[in-house]
Amino acid sequence: MPERCGAAVRAAAVSDLDAMMFLDSLVSANPWSRQSLARYCEPAPADSHCAFVCEVSLSFSGFLIYSRLLDEANIDNVAVSPHYQGRGFGRALLLTALDNMCAIGLKRCMLEVRESNVAARALYENNGFVIDGVRPQYYKTQQGREDALLMSRRL
Ligand SMILES: CC(C)(COP(=O)(O)OP(=O)(O)OC[C@H]1O[C@@H](n2cnc3c(N)ncnc32)[C@H](O)[C@@H]1OP(=O)(O)O)[C@@H](O)C(=O)NCCC(=O)NCCS
Repeated sequence: MPERCGAAVRAAAVSDLDAMMFLDSLVSANPWSRQSLARYCEPAPADSHCAFVCEVSLSFSGFLIYSRLLDEANIDNVAVSPHYQGRGFGRALLLTALDNMCAIGLKRCMLEVRESNVAARALYENNGFVIDGVRPQYYKTQQGREDALLMSRRL
C-alpha cells in the first residue's frame, strides 16, 4: 500500500461504498448513485473499472475512480474530503492511479473537468495533463451552463 503525504492509498473495496457516496455528496452538486459507484469497487473483468481510496490514520479522506477501454483510461471522478483538501491527497490518489495504469500497460489517460474548477485543473495540469479539447456548455451551473475541458496525458 503506497503512502504519500502521510496518506495511505489502496484499492477500494465494496465496503468503501458508503464512505465514497457520503464524500461525493459533500463535494458534488450531482453525486453518483450507489449502483454507478459500485461498478468501480467490484472485481471487474479486464480491469474495466478501478477505484482507489485514501486514508489518514484510518480515516477515509478521498477516492479516485477510473474506467478503461483498450489501452486508454478515463478518470471518471476524484474527490477529497473538504477537511483534507490542499494537503496533497488528490495528488497522491492521482499518482497512484497513474502508476496503476502504467503497470497494466495503458498508454493514455483522459478526463473532463469544469472550466471553473481551479483546484482540479491545477491538480491535473501540475501532473502532466494538457487541454486538448472543449465541450461547450457541457455542465449545468446555478447560473446556466459552462464548458467542459478535455484533458489528457501519455502514460
Ligand atoms: C480537486 C481535488 C480532488 C484536489 O484534491 P486536493 O487534495 O485538494 O489537491 P492537492 O492538495 O493534492 O493539490 C494538487 C495540486 O493542485 C493545487 N491546488 C489544489 N487546490 C487548489 C486551489 N484551490 N487553487 C489552486 N491550486 C490548487 C495544489 O497546489 C497542488 O499543486 P502541486 O502538486 O503543484 O503542489 C479536491 O479539491 C476536490 O475534491 N474537489 C471537489 C471535487 C472535484 O472537483 N473533483 C474533480 C472532478 S474533475
